[in-house]
Amino acid sequence: MRPHGINLTPVVGRPFVDPMARSKVVLAYSGGLDTSVAIPWLREEKGLEVVTVTADVGQPVDLEKVRAKALASGASSAYVADAREEFAAEFLQPAIQANALYEGVYPLSTALARPLIARRLVEVARREGATAVAHGCTGKGNDQVRFELSTQSLAPELEVIAPAREWTMNRDAEIAYAAAHGIPVEATKRSPYSTDENLWGRSVECGVLEDPAIEPPEEVYAWTRSPMEAPDAPAYVELEFDAGVPVSLDGARLPLHALVARLNEVAGAHGVGRIDHLESRVVGIKSREVYECPAATVLLDAHRALEALVLPRDLLAFKRTAEQRYAELVYDGLWFAPLRTSLEAFVTATQERVSGAVSVKLSKGRSTVVGRSSGASLYRAGLATYAEGDRFRREMAEGFIYVWGLPSRTWASVAEPTASVAAPPVAAPPVRTT
Ligand code: ARG
Repeated sequence: MRPHGINLTPVVGRPFVDPMARSKVVLAYSGGLDTSVAIPWLREEKGLEVVTVTADVGQPVDLEKVRAKALASGASSAYVADAREEFAAEFLQPAIQANALYEGVYPLSTALARPLIARRLVEVARREGATAVAHGCTGKGNDQVRFELSTQSLAPELEVIAPAREWTMNRDAEIAYAAAHGIPVEATKRSPYSTDENLWGRSVECGVLEDPAIEPPEEVYAWTRSPMEAPDAPAYVELEFDAGVPVSLDGARLPLHALVARLNEVAGAHGVGRIDHLESRVVGIKSREVYECPAATVLLDAHRALEALVLPRDLLAFKRTAEQRYAELVYDGLWFAPLRTSLEAFVTATQERVSGAVSVKLSKGRSTVVGRSSGASLYRAGLATYAEGDRFRREMAEGFIYVWGLPSRTWASVAEPTASVAAPPVAAPPVRTT
């Protein structure tokens, strides 16, 4: 079992022997090629001492290996932490309550992890007395925007360095640079795809996906079985929510991060959660993105279904518009901005009654809500039924429609207006009064 909580204990590597104390930079470090090359690059090109920070947000990572690699690549110390609980409680929970889907389809898996990582960078920068933070993003994506806007909100005094935006190395040049600096480059097979993973989903881009006219090949998927190869027999999952937060799966109470991880397995096995999106990036580029978000797909479907049972119509409709704005703010890197935090306060206030159970059927790539119940249900059988026991006062409908339709009848009674003629004095429309 991996340790939980914040581990702020660095392991000290090569002590820096320069008598002149160098300024420090805190680098968001994944252990991959770009961020590994960034370590000697920051030392040599910028003359900085490099401290790395790696957060486990549910990606397949061996934190101790990453720590060792950071130190071997020239970091003076390497912070690693299991941030899965924090990611789920502080980022996924509000995203679920807000039904956050960018452009109606993307559950924001990559986007949600960035402000968490930025917050860690700032914490370590303050602790280490660093003057700058750094990330490995290029100049064309959303993630640079998210890291930098988050950092600016939390620590406006810190400089941000983006080595991969400055250097002109391509991948082969980076490999040569790594080799020249004694950085171990894994002999893994070279994938044409760029991927990012955490508890909330897996993002895939590049390679053949850059042609949006072509169906993604099966090889881009890693978390989901092809719907065609999914079991013929559907699976049912029972979810329980407490104030908008999923608290149990098939009767077992689980912390959110564990529930999400488990549900990714179950729903992924049925091919649920594949998303093929033509996305509008914040930097103005249209790009083709493929996502695998099995748990997010199921949880958002279930959560919306429960809200439909317990929230009144006007609140639901208003919340849907706020949700769309909320998702854009998260996508655009504005997690720490006052509009996002204020919308979160609104969303939290709406969730008090969003408690109950939802059954979801998983079958051949589809997740379908098939049952819902709640102690706060607004459903009244006596009002809804067409069978025995109907208590709705039908005779009231006529009067309701008379009043509700009054503006429509008045509008319709006005003759087709002609632009050049001044409107005649208002004549009383033929309104039925009895
Ligand atoms: N387009 C997505 C986003 O902006 C995902 C980017 C993920 N990065 C990657 N290397 N695949 O949130």
